[in-house]
Amino acid sequence: MREWKGHSYEKISILGDYLPVFTQATQRARNRVYIDAFAGDPKNLIKGTDREFPGSPELALEAMPPFTHLRFFEMNRNRVRGLEKLASGRSNQDARVIPGDCNKEMARVLQELPVQAPTFAFLDPDGMELHWSTIRALSDHKRAYAERSNGTKVEMWILFCTSGIVRMLGSNHKEAVKREYPQKVAELFGAWGPWERIWEARLSGELEPGHAKKAYLYLYMDRLAGLGYKHLLVRPIVPNKGNELYAMIFVTDSPAGKSIMSWAQEKDRVQPEAGTLFDAEETRQQYEDLHTGWRDELPFELPEWEDVV
Ligand SMILES: C[S@@+](CC[C@H](N)C(=O)[O-])C[C@H]1O[C@@H](n2cnc3c(N)ncnc32)[C@H](O)[C@@H]1O
Repeated sequence: MREWKGHSYEKISILGDYLPVFTQATQRARNRVYIDAFAGDPKNLIKGTDREFPGSPELALEAMPPFTHLRFFEMNRNRVRGLEKLASGRSNQDARVIPGDCNKEMARVLQELPVQAPTFAFLDPDGMELHWSTIRALSDHKRAYAERSNGTKVEMWILFCTSGIVRMLGSNHKEAVKREYPQKVAELFGAWGPWERIWEARLSGELEPGHAKKAYLYLYMDRLAGLGYKHLLVRPIVPNKGNELYAMIFVTDSPAGKSIMSWAQEKDRVQPEAGTLFDAEETRQQYEDLHTGWRDELPFELPEWEDVV
């Protein structure tokens, strides 16, 4: 059982709305694939309450019409055991748990999945664990098929930990370098360059903290747009009485996928809170203008991306 603060429930609540509509919208396809790169614990609890809620794998397993192929990646051994139990005995679904690091296992696992199938990937790390090479492998998996048949690439819903980057890079350049944090950020973006300039501007006071935080997110969205996705959506996750912790980014080639996720993301939601009788209405700020044009507002030019090799 893993304990979560109320805002973590929001992701699950959005996913729970999205997945059954995704499978209904794709019900004529022979197969439907769900990939959970950070599958988590099957049992979850809102901290300080007795309110349990399912993890993302259970939501995917229960969506109707069903996903035909499901892959759950998880590093933690206890959680792997719980997931194996959850996924076992499903006669109409090929559901498997992949123990270990999703960044190392993804490319191999993708090879055995049908490229024609509508495919949804949930990438939900705790922090900075998701590597760009995994995003690239997912976006390339169906690319050739999608180009040949005017189809769609793998749809992804990604947690981008805005507060994690700000915290990790911090205000002490020397200390961050000593701890090899820049390498971690480079693996997340799959490249060096623009984010380093933003960090430098933050350290020198050229950028305010909130602007640097947004810039990292927009840079990541630029990287995703560079993979050729037709639609990008972003949804900040803001705890009650707090600042944005992370943002959920959705990328798809499907106009239907975009409108279903817009509906799910924009729906009013509540955050369960310990010690209160009623759930609090969430206090999310909207991203006015997604990410285009933001570079023009910077007081300096950004360098070109330099891919991690
Ligand atoms: C935020 S939790 C996932 C929650 C889950 N998606 C849900 O909504 O119920 C992140 C999980 O990823 C696992 N994890 C961390 N790094 C990983 C990696 N490189 N590969 C696979 N799993 C990883 C952690 O053990 C943790 O259980």
